Amino acid sequence: MLNIARSMPSAYRDVSPEDLAARITAAKATLGERLMILGHHYQMEEVMVFADAAGDSFGLSQKAAQSDAELIVFCGVHFMAESADILTSDEQKVILPDLSAGCSMADMADLDQVERAWRELGKVTDTSRIIPITYMNSSASLKAFVGDHGGAVCTSSNARAVLTWALDPTREGSGDKVLFFPDQHLGRNTGLELGYSPADMAVWDPAAQLGGLDEHTIDHSTFLLWRGHCSVHQRFTVEQVTQFREQHPEGVVVVHPECSSEVVGVADASGSTDFIIRYLENLPEGLPVAIGTEVNLVQRLAAAHPDRLIVCLEDMVCPCVTMSRIDAAHLCWVLEEAVEGRIRNHITVPEATAASAKVALDRMLAIV
Ligand code: 13P
Ligand code: SF4
Repeated sequence: MLNIARSMPSAYRDVSPEDLAARITAAKATLGERLMILGHHYQMEEVMVFADAAGDSFGLSQKAAQSDAELIVFCGVHFMAESADILTSDEQKVILPDLSAGCSMADMADLDQVERAWRELGKVTDTSRIIPITYMNSSASLKAFVGDHGGAVCTSSNARAVLTWALDPTREGSGDKVLFFPDQHLGRNTGLELGYSPADMAVWDPAAQLGGLDEHTIDHSTFLLWRGHCSVHQRFTVEQVTQFREQHPEGVVVVHPECSSEVVGVADASGSTDFIIRYLENLPEGLPVAIGTEVNLVQRLAAAHPDRLIVCLEDMVCPCVTMSRIDAAHLCWVLEEAVEGRIRNHITVPEATAASAKVALDRMLAIV
């Protein structure tokens, strides 16, 4: 099959939503068993209705690993499609309908910066005692770095298990320090959940010499947390939680662990997108709920539970703009091209990077 990088022809922009839906349905039917469409919970409804499986980033990586479909169309962001490519066979092709669907948090750490951090740490401490852990929201090259240095990948649904594994003194190859990137919040929230205190943690600033830290701080920190964050989740505040509770004293607040530790600390619960969905299903009927995560998921949950009030913690709704780049038009385009034997936006991770990254992903899959 031909793999040609090309952007979507503008004619797709003029197709009505009804025609796009009909054409996607027809292309799906033609591709049949050869095709699997994966949809992250943050995707827009116009795309999600066509997903063969929906999930959080951990669940979707498992679905990709288990699938034998020849074509996996990943409706999510770039790092998720890369992970799917790493976990699938050479015969399978992973397609990201719009190549500009990235993740601003994942872009906050690159390989040069992490290698520099490792070199600088090596001058002041024994790096064989540091376990590098990368959040799934990172490039394949960072996953490869972690695979090559005794570490693992984690997602928001398994960070606790992965950090416990990293620091388990009974495990051969464990460490007494973790370098966690790129999301400082998931690292901090998980460390606090495991019983560590803020004094056990320091923020590593990649723009500063030695991360902006001194040797004593590095020596005494169990967690070195990369200075990265999610621009969507950093908009949730303690004041929003207080305001919601003033209006709904019986209300419940559930947030994603990419929110700050202050917000997670005052919420009733926190967890991955999948956790949030299950949490809601198990709540007593009628309780109002405020959710601190991306708005497409909040709106889908509000529609699925018409019996209760479900709101986004922030009034000024906050979509993940890069997730929203995958729309019905792009999905229709890549599917119709695949029907014609042309593979557009094929995500391929170079072999050597993929092999090392797979070590880190497989460690994660074995831990949980
Ligand atoms: P989940 O793993 O919870 O789906 O989160 C991915 C993500 O990008 C959240 O912003
Ligand atoms: Fe990245 Fe944040 Fe969007 Fe998740 S919500 S994909 S972390 S920018």
